[in-house]
Amino acid sequence: MYLSQQQIEDYHSNGFLILPGMVEEDVRKVLIQQADSLVHDLREDWFSSVFSTKNQTETTNEYFLSSGDKIRVFMEEGNLANESSSHRVNKLGHALHDLDPVFSIFSHDDRFGRIAKDIGIQQPGLLQSMYIFKQPRIGGEVNMHQDATFLYTDPVSVVGFWFAMQDATLDNGCMWALPGGHRLGLKSRFVREGMTTKFEVLDESPVPEEGYVPLEVPAGTLILLHGLLPHYSKANLSDRARQAYALHVIDQMTHYPADNWLQRGKDMKLTSFEQQFIKK
Ligand code: FE2
Repeated sequence: MYLSQQQIEDYHSNGFLILPGMVEEDVRKVLIQQADSLVHDLREDWFSSVFSTKNQTETTNEYFLSSGDKIRVFMEEGNLANESSSHRVNKLGHALHDLDPVFSIFSHDDRFGRIAKDIGIQQPGLLQSMYIFKQPRIGGEVNMHQDATFLYTDPVSVVGFWFAMQDATLDNGCMWALPGGHRLGLKSRFVREGMTTKFEVLDESPVPEEGYVPLEVPAGTLILLHGLLPHYSKANLSDRARQAYALHVIDQMTHYPADNWLQRGKDMKLTSFEQQFIKK
């Protein structure tokens, strides 16, 4: 076991768990540097796609739908002509944990495997990863959602491992979550329909709009997020970036539907925490 019994109970009761001090400062620096160099390497892609959870029209874009087993760059939307191109990068996704050697080693940490088992994932599979930049002044809001909407399994099993690469505070757009909200059930699924996508409503009853708490955390903190937990983040209005690395893990004992938006090539089976896709 890695977590204490109390931490396991807190996770199941709140739908999230905050674990400070999980990423050493030198490791964070390496990850931040690696993300920066990936952005530079991917500069040809900068104008290929714009990401927003508000406007899903871009998701009809083949660039997004085929990014599940690649590393691609997604830009902030809106009129940002005055901003430099690299400053407009919203995130990298969605297979950094398998394809990038630095993120692969970081993601396949035995501690995270033990945590996954502690919170009930029998056979953890590393499904998806994102490096989120939340740039100073222009980092956009992410609307309230449940991660299981986008990373669905039957039964629901996805857990987010969200690592603060920098301090996350009220003014730079920290996460907000609804304690206990993971017991409300799944409201919708985001599914593929050919080369387009749609939301399939599973439960019309609304998610409460009140009761969310800000998860202000120092750099190096790991926040575990239950896949059914409603959460969001506000825009970054500060002069400081709020970078984060998010790794999503599912239980391979569950069924992964063929109409989930995220599909990986047949040669890219999910890795466990013990087994990297890239050989060390
Ligand atoms: Fe999320």
